[in-house]
Amino acid sequence: MSKVVLQARNLRKVFQEGNLTMEVLKGVDLTLAAGEAMAIIGSSGSGKSTLLHLLGGLDRPTSGEVLLLGRPFSHLSERARSRLRNRHVGFVYQFHHLLAELDALENVMMPLMIRRTPVRQAKQRARALLEAVGLGHRLHHKPAELSGGERQRVAIARAMVTEPDCILADEPTGNLDSRTAEQVLALMLALNTEHKTALLVVTHDAAVAGKMQQIYRLQDGQMRQPVAAGAE
Ligand SMILES: Nc1ncnc2c1ncn2[C@@H]1O[C@H](COP(=O)(O)OP(=O)(O)O)[C@@H](O)[C@H]1O
Ligand SMILES: [Mg+2]
Repeated sequence: MSKVVLQARNLRKVFQEGNLTMEVLKGVDLTLAAGEAMAIIGSSGSGKSTLLHLLGGLDRPTSGEVLLLGRPFSHLSERARSRLRNRHVGFVYQFHHLLAELDALENVMMPLMIRRTPVRQAKQRARALLEAVGLGHRLHHKPAELSGGERQRVAIARAMVTEPDCILADEPTGNLDSRTAEQVLALMLALNTEHKTALLVVTHDAAVAGKMQQIYRLQDGQMRQPVAAGAE
């Protein structure tokens, strides 16, 4: 059996606003192993982003736990979680979250700079990644000077540059036209097959989900059994 990269056990998340409480996740279990490509679908507001934030250690569950490579990720301090996340997780956000004042190359170098990789080496790796996503001619463009698809590809290069054990992607194709969306997905799937990077994509788009090996639906705060086999 492949190495388990991420595991969620009985995850619950309750949001409290004033005297209103909302239980968004009501006990989610999930296991993601190296080499797997999983989609989680669900309507808007079903809790997909919330779940991804918990899995990536960006937020903490109300109860339950997340294990990253067998370690109790969600119980760690913010600082320790950040360190583990930088080492093992690549995050592709819904709206890319690139730094506006940095160019494409600098944005992709950022996760390596955080872990104190020497600048020359970081630059070399970031350039190679940007070339791999077809942006070798856009190294010194700032996000505002790039198209939506180009920005999303920079974000994917940034998520991949540290060779993480898993990539968590929140609606990675949400604001792209269908052709660009397909290219972006193909890129992530290539990484998944070539490097065994575990891939977890949350989306409300059934066509995107159909490209993954496994599809689950998040509904009423719980994960439903596999919806269907993917396209392969
Ligand atoms: N930080 C927050 N505080 C309060 N409510 C939140 C917060 N984040 C998300 N929610 C609520 O949780 C529900 C699920 O949101 P979300 O995870 O963003 O859904 P999805 O990504 O599936 O569209 C929504 O009703 C949303 O308003
Ligand atoms: Mg969302």
